[in-house]
Amino acid sequence: MEYLECIFCQKEYPLDLFYPFCPECQEPLLFSYPFKKKTFFFRKEGLEKYLDFLPLRKINHNFSLGEGNTPLLRLNRLKEKLNLSSVLAKNETINPTHSFKDRGSAIAIQKAVSMGMERIGTVSTGNMAVSTAAYGARAGLKTYVLLKEDISQEKLLSTAIYDPVLVTVQGDYGHLFRQSYLLGKRFKIYFMNSVDPFRIEGYKVAGFEMYLQLKRQAPQYIFVPMSSGGHLIGLMRAFLDLKQAGFIQEYPTFVGIQPKGCSPIAQAYAQRKSKFKRIAKTDTVAQAVTNPDPPGGNVALKMIRQNKGMIIDVSDKEILAAQKMLAEDEGLFCQPASATTLAALLKLSGKLKFESQDKVVLIITGSGLKAVRTLKSLRLNIHQASLSNLEKTMNSLLA
Ligand SMILES: Cc1ncc(COP(=O)(O)O)c(C=O)c1O
Ligand SMILES: [Zn+2]
Repeated sequence: MEYLECIFCQKEYPLDLFYPFCPECQEPLLFSYPFKKKTFFFRKEGLEKYLDFLPLRKINHNFSLGEGNTPLLRLNRLKEKLNLSSVLAKNETINPTHSFKDRGSAIAIQKAVSMGMERIGTVSTGNMAVSTAAYGARAGLKTYVLLKEDISQEKLLSTAIYDPVLVTVQGDYGHLFRQSYLLGKRFKIYFMNSVDPFRIEGYKVAGFEMYLQLKRQAPQYIFVPMSSGGHLIGLMRAFLDLKQAGFIQEYPTFVGIQPKGCSPIAQAYAQRKSKFKRIAKTDTVAQAVTNPDPPGGNVALKMIRQNKGMIIDVSDKEILAAQKMLAEDEGLFCQPASATTLAALLKLSGKLKFESQDKVVLIITGSGLKAVRTLKSLRLNIHQASLSNLEKTMNSLLA
C-alpha cells in the first residue's frame, strides 16, 4: 500500500491518483516514503541511479525521452559583474521538450503505466502541456490537455504535434485547475498537474544532479521561479532527502521568485502570512508563471519557513533586462519566467551577505524559443542592407 501525506495535519492517506489533496486541509499531498537507508546507484543509468529516492519500484527505460543530466554552467561574466565567487545556471532548457517539466512527466508517466492508467492529462500554461503530450505519446497513452486560451502559438502548436486531445479553455485558470480533477475522476483521466505528488518527486532529480555536479556539496543559494509552487517544493524535498540521508550538513537557502504581475505567494511571504490569497487578475510578460491561485502556494510557504529561504517578486522590466543579460553575457536564451532568477539575484545582490565560497545556482527552467512574442518588447539590434551596399554597411558596423 502506498501513502500520501499532508504536511499541515500530518495525516497519511492511501494513494488516490485522481485527487491527491488532503480532504481536511485541501492542500496538496506529498508522497510518503517508508523509512529506509537511501543511497545512489552510481553504476546505473538514468533515473535508476536515484531509485532509492523515487516513488517507483523500477524504471521502464522505454518511456524515457532522455530527460535530465542537464549542465550546471558557470556564469563567469555575471560572477564578475556581481562580485560573487560562483554563479551557476542549471540549464533545464535542454530537456527533451525544453523545460524542467520533463523531469516531472518522466516520473508521473512511469506511475501511470505501472498503475494501469490508460488516460492521462494536464492543465497547463504551456510548458507542462508540451511535456505531458510528449511523454503520453511516448508511452502510448491517450492524453488530454487543457490549455489557457492566451497560450503562445509556439506552445500551442508544439503541443498539438503530439496529437493529444487538446482543448483551449476560456475562463479562470485557478478554477480550471480544480475542475480538471472532477473531470479526471469522472472520465478516469490521471491529471498529472503541477503539484501532482509524482511530478514533484521527479523534480527532485535536478537537486540530486546539482549535488553530484558540485562534488557532493549543496550550493548555498538556489533561485527558483514559482507559479504553482510544485517545482520549488520538489527541489526543496531533494535537499531534505540529502540531509536526512546524511549526505549534506547545511541546507541551502532557497529563493522563490514570482513576477510582480502574479505574486500571490510572494505577497503572503512579505506579509508574514501562512496562507496566500488568490489574486483576481494577472499581468506579466512571464506568461509561464501566471497561476493566480497557486495550488502549492501554502505548502511552499510552510517549507520555506521551516527550512531556509524567502520568496520575493520582480518587475517585468527587471525580468526582461535579466533575460537579455543572460543571452548577451552568457549565451543562454531562456523564457521570461526563467529570467526571474537572475532578476532576483540582481535585486538581492546588495542585500544578501554572500560569503567568499558561496555558490549561487539559478534554475533556468525553460527555453526562450517558446516565448518569442515577448522579444518584440526588447530593443534588439537588427541591421538591414541590400547586396549592393552590404560592404559599406559592414564597414560601418566594424567600429
Ligand atoms: C518555464 C517555467 N518556469 C517555472 C515554472 C513554475 O513552476 P511551478 O508551477 O512548478 O511553480 C513554470 C510552470 O509552468 C514554467 O513553465
Ligand atoms: Zn491535512
